[in-house]
Amino acid sequence: MTIITDKLGRPLQDLRISVTDRCNFRCTYCMPREIFGKDYAFMPREQLLSFEEIERLARIFVELGVKKIRLTGGEPLLRRNLPDLIEKLVAIEGLEDIGLTTNGALLGKYAERLKAAGLERVNVSLDALDDTLFQSINDSGVSSEKVLRGIKKAQEVGLEVKVNMVVKKGMNDQQVVPMAAYFKEQGIALRYIEFMDVGQSNGWDFTQVVTKQEIFQLLSEQFELEPVDPAYVGEVAKRYRYKGTDTEVGFITSVSESFCSTCTRARIAADGRFYTCLFATNGFDLKQLIRSGVDDDALRAAIVPTWQQRKDRYSDERTEETVKNRKKIEMSYIGG
Ligand code: GTP
Ligand code: 5AD
Ligand code: SF4
Ligand code: SF4
Repeated sequence: MTIITDKLGRPLQDLRISVTDRCNFRCTYCMPREIFGKDYAFMPREQLLSFEEIERLARIFVELGVKKIRLTGGEPLLRRNLPDLIEKLVAIEGLEDIGLTTNGALLGKYAERLKAAGLERVNVSLDALDDTLFQSINDSGVSSEKVLRGIKKAQEVGLEVKVNMVVKKGMNDQQVVPMAAYFKEQGIALRYIEFMDVGQSNGWDFTQVVTKQEIFQLLSEQFELEPVDPAYVGEVAKRYRYKGTDTEVGFITSVSESFCSTCTRARIAADGRFYTCLFATNGFDLKQLIRSGVDDDALRAAIVPTWQQRKDRYSDERTEETVKNRKKIEMSYIGG
C-alpha cells in the first residue's frame, strides 16, 4: 500500500461515495421543494457510476491508503440493489470499515439485506422526535416513528447505529434535550451537527448555527458528560459519554471548531467527480476517465496528483472574503 499526502501533510484515508443524487426527503435546509421540485432534473441512471465502476475505483483508493468507505447520497437506499454494492466493497482486501449514512425511511425495509451483505454500521439522520416538527422539516410526509422503527430494525439485525441531528436555530433547537434523553435511554450514540453552509440552496447564515458550546450548555443542565478520547486522529465527531454509562454523545463542529487540519477525507460525488473537500467547487471527472477505457494506472495517475495538490481547508477559511461566495456542490450530490 502506498501512502499519499496532500500539501498540508494529510494522508488519504477515508472515501465518501455518493451513490445517488435523489432523496425521498425534501429537508428544508438541504433540498427545499422550491428548488428540488417536480421539475428538478436529477441525474439519469446511466450518468451515475455503476457498481462495477465504484468497486474498481474503491479498490484503487484502498491501494492508495483508504481504510474507511462511507456510502452516502442523496438517500443511498434509493439506489437499486445497494446491498450488491456493499457485498463487492466488503470483499476488498485492506478496507477496514464500511458505513452508510441514511435518512432511515427505508431502513426497516432494507436493514436485513444490508447486514447480510456485510454492512456493520449505519448513521441515521433524525432532526426531531416531535412528529409534526419532523414532518415539517423533511417535507415529505415521513413520520419520526417510521425512522425510529427503521433504527430498531437495524439494531435487531445487529447493525451498529448512530444518530445524526443537524441543529438549526429556530428550527429544532428545542429538540436538543428531548433527543438526548431518548437516545440515552436507548443506548444509542447521538451526534449533534452544526448547521453548515453546504451547497447553494440552503440559505445558510451564521445566525442559524447552534454551536457545540450552546448545545453542550443545554445538555449540561440535565446530564453529566465526560469526554471520550478520539478513536483515531482526524475523527469527525468530538465525543463524550453520559457519566456512569457507555452511551455516547458527539458534536460535529465544522463551524465553531473546524477540523480541517486532520481531514483525511476524499469524496466521489453522484456525478462521478472526485472532490477533495465537502465545500469544493471543482472536482476531477473520474467517470469520464473510467469510461474512456483507461487502465488502473491511468486512474491512479489522476487520483494521486489530485490528492497531492490538495490544500483545502474551507471550514478554517469560511469567513474569509476569498472563499465566501464560491459556488459549492449541493449536499445531495456530494453526500456530506
Ligand atoms: P463515522 O465514521 O460514523 O464517524 O461517520 P461520519 O461522522 O464521518 O459521517 P456522517 O455521514 O455521519 O457525517 C456526519 C456529519 O459530519 C455530516 O453532516 C457530514 O457532512 C459531516 N462531515 C463528515 N465529514 C466532514 C468533513 O470532512 N468536513 C466537514 N465540514 N463535515 C464533515
Ligand atoms: N449542515 C450540516 N449537516 C447537514 N446535513 C445535510 N445538510 C447539512 C447541513 N447544511 C447532514 C444530514 C446527514 C449528513 C450526511 O449531513 O442530515 O446526517
Ligand atoms: Fe434531508 Fe439528507 Fe435527503 Fe438532504 S439528503 S433532503 S438532509 S434526508
Ligand atoms: Fe475536510 Fe473540507 Fe471539511 Fe475541512 S471543510 S474538514 S478540508 S472536507
